[in-house]
Amino acid sequence: MSKLSGVALVTGAGRGIGRAVAVRLSKDGLRVALTARSAGELAETAAACPGETMALPADITDTAAVERLFSAVEAGWGQVDVLVANAGAGVSSSIATTTDEDWQRMLDLNLTAPFRCVRRAVPGMVERGHGRIVVVASVAAKRGEPYISAYTASKHGVLGLVRSAAAELAGTGVTANAVCPGYVETPMTDATVAGIVDRTGRDAGEARAILERKQPIGRLIAPAEVAETVSFCVANGAVTGQGINVDGGAVQS
Ligand SMILES: NC(=O)c1ccc[n+]([C@@H]2O[C@H](COP(=O)([O-])OP(=O)(O)OC[C@H]3O[C@@H](n4cnc5c(N)ncnc54)[C@H](OP(=O)(O)O)[C@@H]3O)[C@@H](O)[C@H]2O)c1
Repeated sequence: MSKLSGVALVTGAGRGIGRAVAVRLSKDGLRVALTARSAGELAETAAACPGETMALPADITDTAAVERLFSAVEAGWGQVDVLVANAGAGVSSSIATTTDEDWQRMLDLNLTAPFRCVRRAVPGMVERGHGRIVVVASVAAKRGEPYISAYTASKHGVLGLVRSAAAELAGTGVTANAVCPGYVETPMTDATVAGIVDRTGRDAGEARAILERKQPIGRLIAPAEVAETVSFCVANGAVTGQGINVDGGAVQS
């Protein structure tokens, strides 16, 4: 795409990174379809977007919902040009205490749901000869950290999906990239802070400082900084198959 236009679908658009991405792509000039489970949060995101939006509440782990979402966008605006697979969540536990349910929930939400969205988006993009796929992964797609094995496995997996999709789609006009943030200022990180407080008895300020120090720049990443990188992936037709770290220098690759 030489200029930013067309139709974007952003999953997990209700808050945090997904909201910032939706607002950024709307400012860039795209029509943005917003999805997450909470209709109230989607309405808040829609209100923050300067351009046209469509709010579609759904649980992205439901296969039928993926088909419904794409069909609704196509019926309203035509084919999806830009897919941002951002919806995700984490769980913290040691390997020994990670339950089958936790493991499956991480794979369903962080790996299988992006796969189903990519699978549904690709034929239309290839047919039109242009498209952008951006998955919001994590630095956990690049390296292992203790107590997040299920999350880390799911994020390594989704980076593999992106790399394979980019290789398969090269030459079609469709790019696929992952954006890999460190700790970002979002409700998900607030939950991580609360978890550290519960487990260690530290106060919230100390717990937050631990997460700030994970980025060599010494602070959390702003959601808008992640959104800017997504916007770059949408604008650029030559960068594909990459996992772009937005992590204040934590992972050098
Ligand atoms: N925060 C970080 O430090 C950080 C770092 C690296 C990577 N990431 C990744 O960035 C992405 C966004 O994280 P965030 O920090 O913005 O998280 P967040 O603040 O918790 O927001 C997550 C969004 O995903 C949606 N979502 C969750 N489960 C869903 C489901 N089953 N179906 C549909 N939507 C669902 C949530 O809405 P509902 O709950 O209403 O459905 C919400 O809109 C995730 O993939 C996460 O792994 C985050």
